Amino acid sequence: MIRREVVDEILLRNDIESLIGSYISLKRAGSNLKGLCPFHNEKTPSFTVYPADNTFYCFGCGVGGNAITFVRQAEHLDYPDAIEFLAKRAGITVVRDDEPKYEKPSIDKNKLLRMNTDAAKFFHQSLFQNTPEARAALAYFTERRGLSMATIKHFGLGFAPNSFDSLMKFMLNRGYTRDELVVAYLAGKSESGNYYDAFRNRVMFPIIDVTGNVIAFGGRVMDDSKPKYKNTMDTPVFKKSRNLFALNFAKNTGSESLILCEGYMDVIALHAAGFTNAVATLGTAITSEQARLMSRYTKKVVISYDADEAGQKAAQKAMRLLSEVGLEVGVIKVPGAKDPDEYIKTYGKEKFAEVISNSKSKFEYNMESILSRYDINLPQDRINALTELEKLISGVYSAAERDIYIREVSAKLDVNPKSVQNDVERLARIQYSKDKKSESELIKQKTAGYRDRVNPDYAKAPAVAKSEESLLGLLLMYPEHRRRVFEEELVSSADFYTELNRRVFEFVMDAYQRGEQPSDLDRIFSPDEVGRITQMKVGRMQLAKNDSDVLYECINSLKCAVRKKSAESVSSIDDLNKLINLKRNKEG
Ligand code: GTP
Ligand code: MN
Repeated sequence: MIRREVVDEILLRNDIESLIGSYISLKRAGSNLKGLCPFHNEKTPSFTVYPADNTFYCFGCGVGGNAITFVRQAEHLDYPDAIEFLAKRAGITVVRDDEPKYEKPSIDKNKLLRMNTDAAKFFHQSLFQNTPEARAALAYFTERRGLSMATIKHFGLGFAPNSFDSLMKFMLNRGYTRDELVVAYLAGKSESGNYYDAFRNRVMFPIIDVTGNVIAFGGRVMDDSKPKYKNTMDTPVFKKSRNLFALNFAKNTGSESLILCEGYMDVIALHAAGFTNAVATLGTAITSEQARLMSRYTKKVVISYDADEAGQKAAQKAMRLLSEVGLEVGVIKVPGAKDPDEYIKTYGKEKFAEVISNSKSKFEYNMESILSRYDINLPQDRINALTELEKLISGVYSAAERDIYIREVSAKLDVNPKSVQNDVERLARIQYSKDKKSESELIKQKTAGYRDRVNPDYAKAPAVAKSEESLLGLLLMYPEHRRRVFEEELVSSADFYTELNRRVFEFVMDAYQRGEQPSDLDRIFSPDEVGRITQMKVGRMQLAKNDSDVLYECINSLKCAVRKKSAESVSSIDDLNKLINLKRNKEG
């Protein structure tokens, strides 16, 4: 268990503004800050940071809390790991008391990392054995893929022999158990209980995180058999949605941009040709977490996906996710080759450098792909192209940028810029109201009575729940109200109808009794619950009215609501029967 003083210290030293500011860009709005929510898709900022209170809240999707809550959500960590993350960030060492309550069932992450490093050594050594299969694997890299020995060593490439237990033997010798190998995804276990090496007869690509640990592997067949690649599934030290191949090298290049590719082989070919700022996703489409990860190391990403339709479609998604985290985005499509790897081998690195320096902005790229589908000398085609382009421009957030594109498009298609502008504005208005509508739908789903997953009792008595929430908002905000309610015993936990709100009340009163602020919500509550509790608080902050009358009004309306609810419930036949049965059971 982590001591409360440590938690306070961690919260004090992790200023929420700079913490969240390292994930998204925040703009001042009065005494608060606003930005685009990193937890849901939005075009107008509803994500708010309250520096005075060390709190954040998103009015769009309902996430909220303090620095710990933020890290739990953004980094997908549990409470103790989030504390550790923030402690590290602030340069504090956390000593955990020996109470096992908050410890997870033990999977030693450091041991897992050591296992991966040992396995990487084994695969690498196996590439240089004097056996026919090892020679064939090495020849695959050097002859078929044209890699130099230096590149093979630099990336630590390897070979998994065609055997069910060669890695296992090596690892057991080093003191690891079979079950640990299964956890690391280096071995599998059949239904009959037999263990076997997970990677067999494949050339191996170790995946290394930014701190230099081997966290996973990709293994490729050396012929046309399927599946072409086998990748480590998620393990306690590896989330494929949160890592990028070769970022460990690319982050140090000091280059102004990163090049994002689809395949391991693309990245390796680019690095070998001197483009050491290339990275790749790990066999899946890019995620917003990967986009954020890149934004920590660069301002600009050039997307260099495969030339086929799938690659180009994936580029669309990448453009969206990368610009959502505030990255400048460029796109290239290698001409006359299926992917960057093939392009560089066919045309050389100078040509590739040229392609990169002519990368298109997201808008240019989309404009060109629209124009390429039409013959603008034909009137109907011109109209169709214009309609598509206007729609494209209407989706651009900045008005100044829209202006530039309107001028560009009207010149290209030889139409009056004024009429293009009118069309664009009309489309933008329609889109805006659509966005607003879907955002408010989202709010409804999260908070409205029905389908409320965070507080399932809410629907059964919305009026009571609302009163509870406003009372709790007051108590969370103002210490003098906590004192009054506690000392004068104005309300007790039995007065609460919804289970969540009762737990919140008990938490607040507990903290009061111990002389603490009710701020360490994450110790007890789930992130969703912390979001809801923050909403209660933020709702109060906006009212900014704080005399004891308000407190008494709140308590009054809660007690009234509770009375009404109990009258209501007895008047229903069902409940009446329940009540009678209950009495009978007690008597009998
Ligand atoms: P080469 O065909 O050797 O040039 O490989 P590549 O790295 O260029 O692969 P490709 O463009 O076909 O695929 C891009 C990436 O998707 C690969 O690097 C893998 O990470 C992933 N991938 C490809 N095929 C598979 C597969 O069959 N299974 C899984 N899990 N991932 C795959
Ligand atoms: Mn390829």
